[in-house]
Amino acid sequence: MTISSFPEPSIFLASSGEPALRWGLIGPGWIAGEFVTAVHAHTIQRFTAVSSRSLDRATAFAAAYGIDAAFGSADEMLARPDIDVVYIASPPGAHLAEGLAAIAAGKHVLIEKPLASNAAEAKTLAEAARSAGVLLMEAMWSRYLPQASVIRSLLDDGVFGDIHAVLADHNQAINPEPDHRLSRSDLGGGALLDLGIYPVQFASLVLGVPTRVTAVGGFSDTGVDEYASMILTHEGGALSTLTTSMITRTPNSAEIAGSEAHLALAPTFFTPTTLTLSDNTHDGTELHWEDPTGLRGFAALSWEATALATFVGEGRTESPVHTLDETVSILSILDSARDQL
Ligand SMILES: NC(=O)c1ccc[n+]([C@@H]2O[C@H](COP(=O)([O-])OP(=O)(O)OC[C@H]3O[C@@H](n4cnc5c(N)ncnc54)[C@H](OP(=O)(O)O)[C@@H]3O)[C@@H](O)[C@H]2O)c1
Repeated sequence: MTISSFPEPSIFLASSGEPALRWGLIGPGWIAGEFVTAVHAHTIQRFTAVSSRSLDRATAFAAAYGIDAAFGSADEMLARPDIDVVYIASPPGAHLAEGLAAIAAGKHVLIEKPLASNAAEAKTLAEAARSAGVLLMEAMWSRYLPQASVIRSLLDDGVFGDIHAVLADHNQAINPEPDHRLSRSDLGGGALLDLGIYPVQFASLVLGVPTRVTAVGGFSDTGVDEYASMILTHEGGALSTLTTSMITRTPNSAEIAGSEAHLALAPTFFTPTTLTLSDNTHDGTELHWEDPTGLRGFAALSWEATALATFVGEGRTESPVHTLDETVSILSILDSARDQL
């Protein structure tokens, strides 16, 4: 192995010169509550407005999370000039229309993963944001964690040698009821878009765009994909072997295997976790890394908010660590897997 210690993480530290933006929210559901809590606790970003399809729900959310203004429709909120960025946390089936409306209102936009229900919709959003000159970003929080910068450095430094394999799984025993958003194809339900996107974005980070996607799996009674195994073939022959399910649970770990070294991301690999880098011998060198910031679980959703503000401050219109082209490419892989099911 060519290194004796892990590279230093580059961290999206709050109060590092990024602008303090005024945020508006669409879709005040479960993850929205976690995100607002994390942002208010760990960044200088502030939610100043929330909208819901129901004014009562917006008002209740505003009171619960210390937000000044509540609106009974997204359009009313988007008309306000005192909002810089909009966070969209509705089901994927609503992301296209709400994202286009926010872009048309001249706001920067952070859309929960998946950016849209499919690659074509994601491309439409990317084109609209590019022509409006606003920043559009998918809230793929794993990309903004300190550990993601460490992995990028290891990849850039060629520590793995030739990478032969990526393994990653995201399987949760959610067993959603038939009316849950995950069971509804009109809302962009299914395991692939909700959970499978994490292992696919990990393979994309490590090995880039695949040359071939092979997938098998099955559907729920409501007609959405319920579980799938995917093999992505990459140039040079490397394989990413990825699984996802919303009806059973696995450890949710990830690995990179190269000719020189192997990296294991302990469960849950897409949240703050520990990394173990080892050479390819049975009793050789092993290095351990743990996120030094102390932010665990959903508190780490805050990194992507500071990242977004940093990018806005730098005049960027997309994330350099998760570009819109890559976001569309990842959704194309998921489209292809769903088609093959
Ligand atoms: N980053 C993460 O770790 C993470 C975790 C979980 C989920 N997510 C993502 O976040 C998004 C939301 O997931 P969630 O679990 O938070 O969902 P949720 O609890 O169902 O909340 C979604 C909210 O969107 C609104 N909504 C519901 N149906 C809608 C429709 N048909 N059209 C427009 N708005 C609708 C609702 O608010 P109103 O009715 O009040 O408008 C609802 O509260 C999904 O894209 C999901 O993949 C990310």
